[in-house]
Amino acid sequence: MIELKDVNFKYKNGDIVLKDINLKIQEEEFVTIIGKNGSGKSTLLKLIGGITKATKGQATVDEIDLSNKKNFMDIRKKVGIVFQNPENQIIFNNVHDDIAFGIKNLGLDNIEKRIKEALKTVNMEEHENAESYDLSMGQKQRITIASVLSMGTKYIVMDEPTAMLDSEGKETVYEIVKKLKKQGYTIIYATNVMDEILYSDRIILMEKGMIVKEIKPNEILENIEELKKRKLQIPPKIQTLLKLREKGINIDLEEIM
Ligand SMILES: Nc1ncnc2c1ncn2[C@@H]1O[C@H](COP(=O)(O)OP(=O)(O)O)[C@@H](O)[C@H]1O
Ligand SMILES: [Mg+2]
Repeated sequence: MIELKDVNFKYKNGDIVLKDINLKIQEEEFVTIIGKNGSGKSTLLKLIGGITKATKGQATVDEIDLSNKKNFMDIRKKVGIVFQNPENQIIFNNVHDDIAFGIKNLGLDNIEKRIKEALKTVNMEEHENAESYDLSMGQKQRITIASVLSMGTKYIVMDEPTAMLDSEGKETVYEIVKKLKKQGYTIIYATNVMDEILYSDRIILMEKGMIVKEIKPNEILENIEELKKRKLQIPPKIQTLLKLREKGINIDLEEIM
């Protein structure tokens, strides 16, 4: 379990970016975090990934203190991170070497087996010997996901992993995220692609560094005004559903989810 108690975070030069965050994420949960740019999503995810430390409060993953530098390697074995831009995460051009690097860094064995299994999960097994500059952005992002999977972490933090991809790339990567959920990974997923919020277990809404609301995807219709008030886009699929309903065509929410 990931547990944040009264967590605050402030950059050295600036304002408080996370305010009194209280959050529990159970194993195998798929949690989506939404909020306008600057609301603190990335900062929260970095904190959960052990990259930034809370300036106040307690943050733990499986009871390991996320704020203690000494725990860094233990945290890396628990929490994998996928960022927005895969090009910032890929170090070696060769796909095999890039994934191997992360595994070796953690001192894990069965390197070849880990690489093959991870590439299979993201449907990239044919590209083990490819050079990353030959890959599309979506394929590169699948490699960074494979890299995380190869390290065997149970928690995966994903910070807008589809933001830089074309629509096909977005879809392929998001399908993999859903597959990981089915396989039992715990996923903490920030997004601005509003249709993506419909498929997680719960949606956390951030504003100005605070968690201001938590909803379940099947409560989305009752929360349209809430999204509008927070200046967030209504998921396009929901917009279509509402338009059809106006015309008397009644489609159940379940049908589109
Ligand atoms: N390195 C930094 N130094 C100072 N302030 C930062 C830094 N990174 C982000 N911020 C500020 O922290 C706030 C939250 O940013 P961020 O966590 O990136 O939000 P989001 O991911 O929701 O867009 C913003 O006001 C941003 O300007
Ligand atoms: Mg961000």
